[in-house]
Amino acid sequence: MSIEAGGRTIALKAEDDQHRFNRFWLRDLCPSLPTKQSGLRTFSVASLPDDLAARAAEIDHVDPGDILVLEWSDGHVSRYPVNHLLSLAERAAGRRTPLLEVELFGADTEPRRFDGSELTPGSLTHLELLMTVARRGFALVGGLAHDGADRGTDAPAGPTTEDIARLLGRVRETDFGRIFDIVTEPEAWTLSQSDKGQDPHTDDPYRYRPSGISILHCCQAAAGDGGASLLVDGFAVAEHLRRDDPGGFRLLATVAVPYVRHRTRSVEQGEDVHMVAYGPVITLGEGETDAPVVGIRFHERSTDVFDLDPAIVDDYYLAFRSFARWVRSPRFQYVRKLNSGEAIVFDNQRVLHGRTGFSSGGGRRHLRLCTVDRDQVHSRLRRLIEVHDPGHERVRLCGGAAPA
Ligand SMILES: [Fe+2]
Repeated sequence: MSIEAGGRTIALKAEDDQHRFNRFWLRDLCPSLPTKQSGLRTFSVASLPDDLAARAAEIDHVDPGDILVLEWSDGHVSRYPVNHLLSLAERAAGRRTPLLEVELFGADTEPRRFDGSELTPGSLTHLELLMTVARRGFALVGGLAHDGADRGTDAPAGPTTEDIARLLGRVRETDFGRIFDIVTEPEAWTLSQSDKGQDPHTDDPYRYRPSGISILHCCQAAAGDGGASLLVDGFAVAEHLRRDDPGGFRLLATVAVPYVRHRTRSVEQGEDVHMVAYGPVITLGEGETDAPVVGIRFHERSTDVFDLDPAIVDDYYLAFRSFARWVRSPRFQYVRKLNSGEAIVFDNQRVLHGRTGFSSGGGRRHLRLCTVDRDQVHSRLRRLIEVHDPGHERVRLCGGAAPA
């Protein structure tokens, strides 16, 4: 192993590989810097001189591993465990951990199903639930509490909506409250409270940060065949468009459109609101239009007046209509009628949800909906990986639908 400190770069040669580290980058990671229990750092790189340089460098061969000792121009001495430094070499070279590979789904998917009674907080099954949602967009959970009425029984014991939500993180309180009870009512004030079908959409696109990971918990299924849930992988639709209609894909990924929810009077389960957010239908990760899809924001019933450049408005509508048609296509729709006591846990910034219509004359239908911000869920997932699979917690996860 050899070391070369010159000017702004410190080069470390280990076996056949040469790794180069920037002076500020290294000093920013000096192990002598104090850390706090809060998990936040206390150091400012602004405190370093502009002309910072490594004056001397040597390898200290000690047990249990070599230490790189750097003496800096401002008199500070840093001691870096070489193995730790090498484990960071990819990042020092600007190479990011790839995004977690997702598995696209369509009509024929076989979803992963979990049993609520096995989802002990902190367990491997808990980790698998969150990983399934991160990779595949959604998971089914069975064995949950339900109303019991449709089976002629009292409500059975079992994990509640809140119990499942706690596995994800803190429930986001919205203008609907913590949990939205979707119950068929004769005097429906929203479409969701009616017995009509709903085309697949992502929830609350009119928020800068829409719902993250959501739970739809069926407490009482509709009688008959109707009331089935529709799930569409927005990433799969986007990838289809990327291949099939690159021009339309580019418009959906680069042009932000307005979404709105405007209600001047409060209703039984909602405050008065006037929310407006702009965002592209397809959010891409870093890079050009060949970058991975990381988020979807799409709800035809929530669009505000499109204020687009007249030069692109026609092409934009063609692309938007194309997306809307594909989310209605049976090829992309996974259809499942939830039984009482079953829930879908889904990524609302990837998976569009809807339902088929049903007959409210056949009795009551009751679903409960709540959501947890995606960063909370991903935080929990990383912590569970740390516990169950140490060393792999640097997984990079989709940030979701970006606001404009
Ligand atoms: Fe919805």
